Amino acid sequence: MRILITGGAGFIGSALIRHLLQNTEHQVLNLDKLTYAGNLESLASVANHPRYRFAQLDIIDQPQVRALLDEFQPEAIMHLAAESHVDRSIDGPSAFIQTNIVGTYALLEATRGYWQGLNEAAKQAFRFHHISTDEVYGDLHGADDLFTETTPYAPSSPYSASKAASDHLVRAWQRTYNLPVLITNCSNNYGPFHFPEKLIPLVILNALDGKPLPVYGNGAQIRDWLFVEDHARALLKVVTEGKVGETYNIGGHNEQQNIDVVRSICALLEELAPNKPAGVERYEQLITFVKDRPGHDLRYAIDASKIERELGWVPAETFATGLRKTVQWYLNNLDWCRHVQDGSYQRERLGATE
Ligand SMILES: NC(=O)c1ccc[n+]([C@@H]2O[C@H](COP(=O)([O-])OP(=O)(O)OC[C@H]3O[C@@H](n4cnc5c(N)ncnc54)[C@H](O)[C@@H]3O)[C@@H](O)[C@H]2O)c1
Repeated sequence: MRILITGGAGFIGSALIRHLLQNTEHQVLNLDKLTYAGNLESLASVANHPRYRFAQLDIIDQPQVRALLDEFQPEAIMHLAAESHVDRSIDGPSAFIQTNIVGTYALLEATRGYWQGLNEAAKQAFRFHHISTDEVYGDLHGADDLFTETTPYAPSSPYSASKAASDHLVRAWQRTYNLPVLITNCSNNYGPFHFPEKLIPLVILNALDGKPLPVYGNGAQIRDWLFVEDHARALLKVVTEGKVGETYNIGGHNEQQNIDVVRSICALLEELAPNKPAGVERYEQLITFVKDRPGHDLRYAIDASKIERELGWVPAETFATGLRKTVQWYLNNLDWCRHVQDGSYQRERLGATE
């Protein structure tokens, strides 16, 4: 298949591209604007792969996107491009509305024009796969409640509201124009190449520098963590075997309180990085509780039984095995982290071909 991936220079998109090139015969075109979150260094291992191409483009630029579609003739589009950080959406929602809502609209329209020009067989086989989040469902109150594919939408932050809006647009393009769409809503991802502003990499890198490990409120928020490579495998299953018009929830059965995530990282660092910065006796002493985020959801947890039952996908990693791999990866790849932290990743457009 020829697959166009939007947002392929981001955390999940780059994991998906590495997975596709290493484990399938598909051709990949990565369409990415390269915002602060786009990092071509995450794709250095595949930058010269004969089945990989990169195009720097904003999804909102409908004519340019349409021209790229006409030229590449994708059989599937996997749409991951988004503004994705909740804290940034609280400080400045505008980019979230632009990219996540208006950008998804522009991409849908470019896709619809391209798709309508295909022959009947190609039209039938085509897939538009929209990658979304469990945050569209709001938060859970009962200890045993889980998000299912039919849980009503109740987003809390500008980020999750913009993703909810994009999900609605994608569904409407199927109902109204018959565009063959698939939607996945996934829980919190973690793993290699995660941007250092997110909880897990932030805690690892701050701990190694002897800096405070910030925990919102009392740290009791519960998230259901999924190793990013498990997510990439799930996305491939859905785009190739999913039923048109369906939504699939993806989760790792790994519910953890934020404070326990931070403590687990500290314990792994005690073992894997025992030479601590000056003045630090135990990494845990760096834990610092900070004022809670406004509108902070307490608990997210996914019921992933539909994708397990219908498509046979199950996560390969537990939180313990995935977190160990992640901490070890950061310890082995401090250069990648430093390039993000000092901004040099944005100057070196490694692998940029268009
Ligand atoms: N990270 C998670 O835990 C998680 C969980 C569930 C769903 N998701 C969803 O998965 C997708 C990918 O998440 P991520 O964590 O990899 O995000 P990310 O922020 O790491 O990457 C986003 C990518 O999109 C690109 N981009 C942003 N605006 C663009 C635009 N206007 N045009 C083209 N490219 C643009 C960025 O340059 C970047 O490469 C998002 O849609 C997100 O909502 C993320």
